[in-house]
Amino acid sequence: MVDRSIGKNIKKSSHKPASALKFRIDESGNLRAGVSASAGEFSLTPEIIHLLCLLQQGVPEAGLAAKLRQDFKQISANLPPQEEVNDLISEMTQAGCVIPTGADSSTAAGLDDGFGDPWIQWAMLADKPRCSAYQKAIGGAVGDNSVVVDVGAGTGLLSLYACKAGAREIHCIEETSSANILSGVIKNMSAAERERFKIHRKNSADAILPDKVTHIISELFGNDPLQEGVVPTLRDVFSRAGGAKTVGIPESVEIFCNFADIRKGPLKNRIERLISDDSSVTAEWWTPVRTIMKMINFDDVSFAHPVRESDLRVSGGFHSCFRIPLAPPPAANARLPFANYGHKFTERDECPVLILGFRAHLTAGITISNMPGEKDECEHWSPVIVPVRRRPALNEVFSARVSVSGDWQTITAEITDAKNKVIGSRR
Ligand SMILES: C[S@@+](CC[C@H](N)C(=O)[O-])C[C@H]1O[C@@H](n2cnc3c(N)ncnc32)[C@H](O)[C@@H]1O
Repeated sequence: MVDRSIGKNIKKSSHKPASALKFRIDESGNLRAGVSASAGEFSLTPEIIHLLCLLQQGVPEAGLAAKLRQDFKQISANLPPQEEVNDLISEMTQAGCVIPTGADSSTAAGLDDGFGDPWIQWAMLADKPRCSAYQKAIGGAVGDNSVVVDVGAGTGLLSLYACKAGAREIHCIEETSSANILSGVIKNMSAAERERFKIHRKNSADAILPDKVTHIISELFGNDPLQEGVVPTLRDVFSRAGGAKTVGIPESVEIFCNFADIRKGPLKNRIERLISDDSSVTAEWWTPVRTIMKMINFDDVSFAHPVRESDLRVSGGFHSCFRIPLAPPPAANARLPFANYGHKFTERDECPVLILGFRAHLTAGITISNMPGEKDECEHWSPVIVPVRRRPALNEVFSARVSVSGDWQTITAEITDAKNKVIGSRR
């Protein structure tokens, strides 16, 4: 219902809740909101939730405190005055939870954690195999008539490759302050080049996309390739901007696995101690560690770890489990892919682990991966490692079932022995 006490000349609300806003209840039972893994989080009280609802309804900002008092008069007397409401909106804007309406202005200024960190962007920029593969793929696919959307543009590297390839229009979508770096680069270009760029400083879910997009380009992979939300993000962008002929770079991501024996490096001792639980060792440093160890639940441990080819013995190379299309990705309710892989241990493995890797197919024949020793291995990613909680006997068979979580944001795995006992997992 419209509040008649709000004057007609008061400006309409100039902010609205971000479409990308996600809610979760934290460990202490508090409701929190954030727009993505790379942005900050915001704590939500009932008044703030109500404020978000009022902003969504377009209630003018100058009247929000009055409207709150009216709606909450039976519940609370301790409500924020208009000045505090203005501050709250400004804080929520900084956290990316509300975005300014109208102008395509920045929501990125406050998002300096995660991908706003220059060192994280530099790790990606300095990764030669990654950058050169993208340059070749974009250079070969984009031409003079291309209208390109760069989803998660970061510092704008892929957009600059598209510009070099002659793209007519380049839409760079980036939610963190990395977008400021791209703005600086574009400022120094010629006016003709500058006009080809449009920067959307917001989450892709809130970006207004152009018509007739010819190419959707992105690099939204983590060590677990799904952890940065590549599937739901590209699903949304393709559903709004993709046509039958829209080219996606990358085309797909393929998931691989294999058992490996960690032969050296810092991980070897850590896994060995986890497995051996050696009660005969009575060293003074070890006995208390062993006591604590018994209290820790290691049932579902997995982690990304930098391992070199020389640290491992992987028999027979990595096995392809399944390929997830990304141009466009599967629907939210599509059947989850899975693969079962059985492995016979023909040598004595002291530190057995399951390694989960990925290979992204950018365009036909151009790939990048995070698998140690592969020709297309990139420098800044690590594979995901799932420790096996028991040493295999010689010729024993262990099985791995590799799949994807229901929200398509994690590669999952379960390792079982011949008696179907679970001896390692990632959920
Ligand atoms: C892995 S980095 C790649 C950056 C750049 N494209 C490159 O190749 O160097 C992914 C970037 O996407 C941004 N990002 C992720 N999801 C996003 C989304 N849904 N909307 C806008 N930006 C997003 C992150 O902030 C990050 O800067």
